[in-house]
Amino acid sequence: MLTLYEKVDALNPENSMPVFRKAAEIIKSGGIVIFPTETVYGIGADAFNESAVKKIYEAKGRPSDNPLIVHVSKTDDLNYLAANIPEGAKKLTDSFWPGPLTVILEKSANVPFLTTGGLNTVALRLPQSKAARLFIEACGCPVAAPSANISGKPSSTDAKHALLDFDGKVDMIIDGEQSVCGIESTIVDCSDDITLLRPGSVTFEMLRAVLPEIKADKYIKLKPDDDFKPKSPGQKYRHYAPKAEMTLFCGNHSKVVSEINKRIAASVGKRVGVLSTRESEREYNCGIVISAGSRLDPASVAANLYDTLRRFDETGVDMIYSETFGSEGIELAIMNRLSKAAGYRIVECK
Ligand code: TXA
Ligand code: MG
Repeated sequence: MLTLYEKVDALNPENSMPVFRKAAEIIKSGGIVIFPTETVYGIGADAFNESAVKKIYEAKGRPSDNPLIVHVSKTDDLNYLAANIPEGAKKLTDSFWPGPLTVILEKSANVPFLTTGGLNTVALRLPQSKAARLFIEACGCPVAAPSANISGKPSSTDAKHALLDFDGKVDMIIDGEQSVCGIESTIVDCSDDITLLRPGSVTFEMLRAVLPEIKADKYIKLKPDDDFKPKSPGQKYRHYAPKAEMTLFCGNHSKVVSEINKRIAASVGKRVGVLSTRESEREYNCGIVISAGSRLDPASVAANLYDTLRRFDETGVDMIYSETFGSEGIELAIMNRLSKAAGYRIVECK
């Protein structure tokens, strides 16, 4: 398949309407298109067209029981796609839409089961990204879209990442802005007791300010154990993993640095990469140190996280040692992604 690659004006995407219209024609005729959003790039199809949705699963190598997020261009679309919408969900969408928040609701009969992985619920999101909204609006239908990465690999925060993963596998890639959040949307299940399932740039603290009764799923922080019954099918699959084995080091900062340096010294003949922060990038005795951002601005770490993991893939390191983060604000989301990317290999430095 030939993949069209079209750039849009990232600052003023309304200047690029011909590109969005071309992409919309592809969607309307059952094709699949990669498009920018503020969180990560998505790989989209008409959410009502089962054969188009099937192409997404095939292109990603995604298990068919893992449902897709349905993206809309206006809040009202929720009423057509969901049923029995609770007051709490309305409070959340009023506060955080458009934005990096996905709500899970009972699905209406209009949404095919293929899109929801066979579930009676549907995940809905109205993105902040202007380019994303212009694209969805031009399509004239809701757009089902998972993150644009091969299943299990780091998400794409730049069209170049998506091109590496999907050249020849999708009909078109829209090259827009670099994703500003850099990690996938916050997911809140509103179909039962309102529960945070995946942390993101809309933080737990921000959600709690609007809905004090909201809970957080315990597996946001913990490795799935024998009791684990995933509330979101995606929770049971490996995610975000770079090619090299990654290990996280937590504890007092100077202990972390000395433990990582000790391991670097012991790994003769291996290429080691260190995922650091700007404040400590000069403290490691190894050639490949990549700073993901500043501890003073953890949102910058989130924004660069997947790009950093992909850069380690390019350098061909044998192993990655990484610093860790806290559990408040956006740091909860960073740790959730890092823990999964590392397959929960976490060393406590004492
Ligand atoms: O920021 C994002 O959310 C990006 C952009 C493209 O919008 N999309 C994204 O999609 O991250 P994906 O497929 O990579 O992650 C969606 C997660 C999966 O873990 C999936 O299992 C879960 O949402 N999910 C989707 N529908 C669900 C449902 N009805 N019930 C529970 N979990 C659901
Ligand atoms: Mg994903």
